[in-house]
Amino acid sequence: MILSVNVDHVATVRQARLGSDPDPVAAAVLAVLGGADGITIHLREDRRHIIDRDLDVLRQTLSVPLNLEMAATDEMIEKAAATLPAMVTLVPEKRQELTTEGGLDVQSNGERLKDAVTRLHEAGIEVSLFVNPSPEDVEISLITGADRVEIHTGTYANASTPQIVKQELQKILAAVQKAAELGLTVNAGHGLNYHNVQAIAGIKAVSGLYIGHGIISRAVLVGMEQAVRQMKNLITQVRRP
Ligand code: PXP
Repeated sequence: MILSVNVDHVATVRQARLGSDPDPVAAAVLAVLGGADGITIHLREDRRHIIDRDLDVLRQTLSVPLNLEMAATDEMIEKAAATLPAMVTLVPEKRQELTTEGGLDVQSNGERLKDAVTRLHEAGIEVSLFVNPSPEDVEISLITGADRVEIHTGTYANASTPQIVKQELQKILAAVQKAAELGLTVNAGHGLNYHNVQAIAGIKAVSGLYIGHGIISRAVLVGMEQAVRQMKNLITQVRRP
């Protein structure tokens, strides 16, 4: 089980003053020292946190795979082809949202996503689609040619009652099983933290977890290395029957 640490919110603090501190690149280095297997950044159209310079410097310096989250737009596809991250995760993007609100609408955007996947593959980049926990959406993802899916865990993470938690876990499990059946590598992420991660880490077919806000929130208090190490311990300690 790999852990890719999303450092967007280090950049959020930096952009609050439009200066150079704290540097998400430094945070990424410390995350790797704490045991991160990969680093994730989301380059948004509005550059509200990660900026182009972060992508360029991380690409030149990181010792672990860089996953670039981005919208399937021409601008971003060209950016990815020019910088060549190890992987691109295609996500929906709305200007007004505080964070990615859900998985891709793969049912309505199948052709557009297929085209984006093809262009990214031509550039030699592996592609993951961020999808809702639905077996149908996973099946459509396969048709686009994507190599992986990342199952959206946000509704599970935000569930307000044990019953909803259970229902959401069942949906995640069904989507993971479908992806595994189809031979897609399957990851999970969004809203995961130190309290809710183990139920997801315990699903055997899940290969990687993509976690940002929870780790950065703890890192503000205990330091980046320590925050990543604590998350890594929780993930590796869990039984995967
Ligand atoms: N996975 C995807 C596709 C995302 O868009 C995000 C948020 O950028 C995450 C995972 C991480 O979510 P969080 O910050 O809630 O851990």
